[in-house]
Amino acid sequence: MIFDTHAHYDDRDFDGDREELIESLPLNNVTKVVNVGASIMSSYWCLDLCHKYDHIYAAIGVHPSDVYLNMDKDLEQLFGFCSDPKVVAIGEIGLDYHFEDDTDHALQREYFIKQLYIAQKLKKSIIIHSRDAAKDTLDILKENYTGESKTVMHCFSYSEEVAKEILDMGLYIGIGGVVTFKNARKMVDVVKSMPLERLLIETDCPYLAPTPHRGKRNSSLYLPLVIEKISEIRGISPKEVEEITYNNAMEFYGLSDGE
Ligand code: NI
Repeated sequence: MIFDTHAHYDDRDFDGDREELIESLPLNNVTKVVNVGASIMSSYWCLDLCHKYDHIYAAIGVHPSDVYLNMDKDLEQLFGFCSDPKVVAIGEIGLDYHFEDDTDHALQREYFIKQLYIAQKLKKSIIIHSRDAAKDTLDILKENYTGESKTVMHCFSYSEEVAKEILDMGLYIGIGGVVTFKNARKMVDVVKSMPLERLLIETDCPYLAPTPHRGKRNSSLYLPLVIEKISEIRGISPKEVEEITYNNAMEFYGLSDGE
């Protein structure tokens, strides 16, 4: 069974066939999906989806590109959402310094720290988005992460050295379609050397479709291509990768089959 640990089925790219596609997933061996929020509005949509479908769970949070000046109100709402039993994580939260004219970096850091605090207080798992901001992300984690909430750096894009640092802190690493790209040397090295029990597979769909679908709309149905690539890198069977990553995801989100 396959567990997609990070998807955005609320995205408008799925407006044409959302129900059909989500309903088809369990028939295609994708038995669990965590739909991840990126703003208060999309967190509402995540809740909607997870109430509609047994196999969908929700992560809720404010993405660094969606931070605004109404932080107190946003955080209060997130706090409220967390009492829902299908909310399994806070995310995606973190730092994104990729675009010069994106949201204010100081405000990004403030939202990140406060959401880390909420997650740890409520014992929720944590999904971190970090792009072009390795140093500040590590610094904030060193100061604010207690190690009690299971935490993943999703769509990992940094070096082996950064991977080693976050693995030493107890974090998981999220691997998706990018590992199949021709220029994915860095990520292949990370997958080769990291402990498999800390690896989660994810789509981040509709983004980052694996080769040979690169550039097209991604979905959980393409995860076998990611599994195959990891099995090639590690020299074990796809079946083993599927089982190990499924069990990792269940433990990460605190789920057990039968729930
Ligand atoms: Ni995402």
